[in-house]
Amino acid sequence: MQWSLCLLILMGQCCFFTCRLYEYHFIAENKSWYEAQRYCREKNTDLAKVFDMTDMTDMSRLRNSTQNQGEAWIGLNNNTGGNRMWHWSLPGVEYIQNGSSWNLNGRTDNEKPGNCGRKRDKLADASCDYPMWFVCYDEMKKDNKTLYLITTPMNWTQAQSYCRYHHIDLASGLDQVDGGELMMMKKKRDPSSAWVGLFRDSWRWSDGSNFSFRYWDMQLFNDTQSNKTCAMTLLNRSGKWSSDECGKEKPFFCYDDKVILVKENKTWEEALYYCRDKYLDLVSITNLEDQQWVQEKAKNSSTPFVWLGLRYTCTLGFWFWVTDEVVEYKNWDSDGTTDGYDMSAAMESGEKHKWFNKLDNNLFNFFCYKN
Ligand SMILES: *[C@@H]1O[C@H](CO)[C@@H](O)[C@H](O)[C@H]1NC(C)=O
Ligand SMILES: *[C@@H]1O[C@H](CO)[C@@H](O)[C@H](O)[C@H]1NC(C)=O
Ligand SMILES: *[C@@H]1O[C@H](CO)[C@@H](O)[C@H](O)[C@H]1NC(C)=O
Ligand SMILES: *[C@@H]1O[C@H](CO)[C@@H](O)[C@H](O)[C@H]1NC(C)=O
Ligand SMILES: *[C@@H]1O[C@H](CO)[C@@H](O)[C@H](O)[C@H]1NC(C)=O
Ligand SMILES: *[C@@H]1O[C@H](CO)[C@@H](O)[C@H](O)[C@H]1NC(C)=O
Ligand SMILES: *[C@@H]1O[C@H](CO)[C@@H](O)[C@H](O)[C@H]1NC(C)=O
Ligand SMILES: *[C@@H]1O[C@H](CO)[C@@H](O)[C@H](O)[C@H]1NC(C)=O
Ligand SMILES: *[C@@H]1O[C@H](CO)[C@@H](O)[C@H](O)[C@H]1NC(C)=O
Ligand SMILES: *[C@@H]1O[C@H](CO)[C@@H](O)[C@H](O)[C@H]1NC(C)=O
Ligand SMILES: *[C@@H]1O[C@H](CO)[C@@H](O)[C@H](O)[C@H]1NC(C)=O
Ligand SMILES: *[C@@H]1O[C@H](CO)[C@@H](O)[C@H](O)[C@H]1NC(C)=O
Repeated sequence: MQWSLCLLILMGQCCFFTCRLYEYHFIAENKSWYEAQRYCREKNTDLAKVFDMTDMTDMSRLRNSTQNQGEAWIGLNNNTGGNRMWHWSLPGVEYIQNGSSWNLNGRTDNEKPGNCGRKRDKLADASCDYPMWFVCYDEMKKDNKTLYLITTPMNWTQAQSYCRYHHIDLASGLDQVDGGELMMMKKKRDPSSAWVGLFRDSWRWSDGSNFSFRYWDMQLFNDTQSNKTCAMTLLNRSGKWSSDECGKEKPFFCYDDKVILVKENKTWEEALYYCRDKYLDLVSITNLEDQQWVQEKAKNSSTPFVWLGLRYTCTLGFWFWVTDEVVEYKNWDSDGTTDGYDMSAAMESGEKHKWFNKLDNNLFNFFCYKN
């Protein structure tokens, strides 16, 4: 690689505080949900969407600084004609329908159909209030386990809280739920039904994204109050959510998207120049949330891959983000990791949005941070 390019890359480390994927704004004006939506789409990107608990903490920081202790709209509503969609409980795991994992005729006599998913030999939907065993997911500890079968029967909501408190979440995604580890576990134990992290609801985010995080305050929220179809965060109940009639006027949260997909075909180097010239920099992905935020946009690109700000070094032999973040989180395709000169990383636009190393002179769309 040319030294001028090395210098350019090194000069770019301006991003430390300015480069964020999105930013929340609290708007202390009373508006109906739809007026609030219009306001956010005009001034920012859209009404706030929430990926996981970290986002709730971000919001609560804003809320604390405004002294407002009431209710505020977020971008979730139930005006969907009752069309329920399946989600995995673990944030960032996308639900992809695969008929061969399900057996709807496989319910036992005492299992009623419902809106939560359980695993026996296959998946089936079951009534969420039924107490049964469940499977939690955790990060790999030293005994190579990621899944834990809990043999205290609980209903789905309790099971989810238990897993989120003691581990990370209910087991989520077909890799976990149909994988060898769960099969081994169930072989050793009784093959009875166990909850996994599947639920279906008819709530949708205002910007159309499929984020699965829900933070309902179960003491206040009632999913059958059919004229309360817009969601709010209750600022005096640690931010938990409930619903209200959309016409009521409340303050609200918007979000500002800081990532842009540039739908022009450029080499990696051209892309870097372009981002630094017109925006801030090429985008870094340092955790699962970033990955999820960016991958939804990748679906919209006109090329099969999209450049990221990840580059194989100027001579030292390792991968680094041009914004200087540490390369800890990785999402390489298993075949895509071989190192090599003049290589940079690009995310697949479709499939599982894995990263591949590609020669710099490929012409792809790319992601920039914007102000
Ligand atoms: C919004 O409405 C509440 C309750 O009606 C009121 O207490 C508050 O002052 C209003 N806020 C603004 C900014 O108008
Ligand atoms: C917000 O304020 C509450 C109590 O006033 C405090 O417990 C909480 O930690 C604060 N949250 C943040 C993110 O600062
Ligand atoms: C929280 O605020 C609501 C008004 O939005 C009020 O009705 C309720 O009593 C408050 N709850 C607590 C615990 O302060
Ligand atoms: C949300 O929509 C579903 C399906 O139409 C309905 O069963 C449920 O009662 C609604 N929930 C609320 C809070 O309106
Ligand atoms: C569905 O799952 C089966 C086995 O788990 C797998 O072989 C197949 O490729 C999957 N189909 C799709 C469309 O993902
Ligand atoms: C789950 O159990 C808890 C505690 O017994 C109860 O408060 C809650 O309503 C139950 N949830 C469902 C969906 O049945
Ligand atoms: C965990 O897996 C690694 C690699 O697959 C293996 O080398 C190691 O022996 C395993 N440890 C245990 C406790 O099974
Ligand atoms: C949300 O999921 C639906 C159904 O799986 C899919 O058609 C849609 O493209 C997804 N939306 C986004 C923004 O990924
Ligand atoms: C939820 O609301 C419906 C309709 O208003 C009511 O019939 C039902 O009893 C409520 N459920 C709870 C748990 O409050
Ligand atoms: C919504 O339902 C409640 C109770 O069922 C009722 O008091 C209220 O008037 C209804 N609101 C609208 C806008 O229909
Ligand atoms: C995809 O691109 C179209 C046309 O540029 C735009 O209208 C749409 O909002 C984009 N969708 C996403 C999810 O960015
Ligand atoms: C970029 O390349 C793709 C094929 O890889 C092509 O379909 C698309 O039209 C090109 N876009 C532009 C703006 O040249």
